[in-house]
Amino acid sequence: MATTVRSFAKINLGLAIGARRPDGFHGLETIYQTVAAHDLIRVVCGATGHAPITIRCDHPAVPCDATNTCYRVAERMLQLWQLDTTVEITIDKRLPVQGGMGAGSANAVATLFALERELGRELAPAEQLRIAAEVGSDLPLFLLGGTVLGAGRGEQVYPLPDLPTLPCVLATPSVAVSTPQAFQDWDALAASADSVAASGLTSAAPLGTLSKFSRSAFSWLSHLEATGVPAGRSGDRAETLLLDLVRAGIENDFERVVFPQYPELHEVKRELQRAGAKLALLSGSGSSLFGLFDEQARAGQAVEQISATGVRAIASTTLTRRAYQEQRFV
Ligand code: C5P
Repeated sequence: MATTVRSFAKINLGLAIGARRPDGFHGLETIYQTVAAHDLIRVVCGATGHAPITIRCDHPAVPCDATNTCYRVAERMLQLWQLDTTVEITIDKRLPVQGGMGAGSANAVATLFALERELGRELAPAEQLRIAAEVGSDLPLFLLGGTVLGAGRGEQVYPLPDLPTLPCVLATPSVAVSTPQAFQDWDALAASADSVAASGLTSAAPLGTLSKFSRSAFSWLSHLEATGVPAGRSGDRAETLLLDLVRAGIENDFERVVFPQYPELHEVKRELQRAGAKLALLSGSGSSLFGLFDEQARAGQAVEQISATGVRAIASTTLTRRAYQEQRFV
């Protein structure tokens, strides 16, 4: 027997960074959104092998040792259940590994679902959440899927009313942005803005704060909830919803430290906007960017335009929670 799970990616429909906490992480708020683009994770248990957990992946940038997020999740599950079966995990990489779309985190949660099914056992929801949050801030959102509010260091997740299925373009310039470095750069930016403000010489523009993000996000969400999104009738509602999202002023704070260092990423955002994206943003700390479109045809044209500049781009769609859960197992 083998179990194969689609490991769907995510984008961030905005992200606000707060202060560094005593544990070294930063408080943040974000709206996660799962998308249909995915890797495949295949899990087989009980095959004869030397190591209890084996990772196979032919992508050179994916570690196949105990540092792999899939390994770390499987290890914790075997430990909890006190099982000494062998587990073989094969990662079929289709998503870019440069980051921003949570692919490594999604792979780990897909491993959790696959291993539960392979072993015919289920973790209690609290255990799923504990294991996911221990392995990384971006894992718990993949336990829910759909449109998800993330708080704390990103690991506290709350299901939100789902966005309808919208065409989207995922563009990944081949630049590796370090997430810890981007957080450090944010700290430096925040510190310099504070010192300018303290000097009293000028009223420094305040950095994007969690409270501003909360206000924007909740104003948009209350609208989303109030108007509702009838299933299967997303067409003409898409544009209004996207305009509302832009009007609410939802941004990604990482753009303020990542774009000055990698102007080519800013250029891809402009390219998405020129191609007609209603909302174009950096996803997470990058290097992936996404554009949301009101029409599939426009998204297709955008892929062509961006690919012509030498940047990898694919057309996908946002994925509702229900679709995420129903389409998980292959
Ligand atoms: O949790 P995850 O392993 O994805 O985090 C990677 C790194 O990003 C952390 O070690 C930390 O340096 C930084 N981080 C942070 N604040 C967060 C999430 C991540 O500073 N909320």
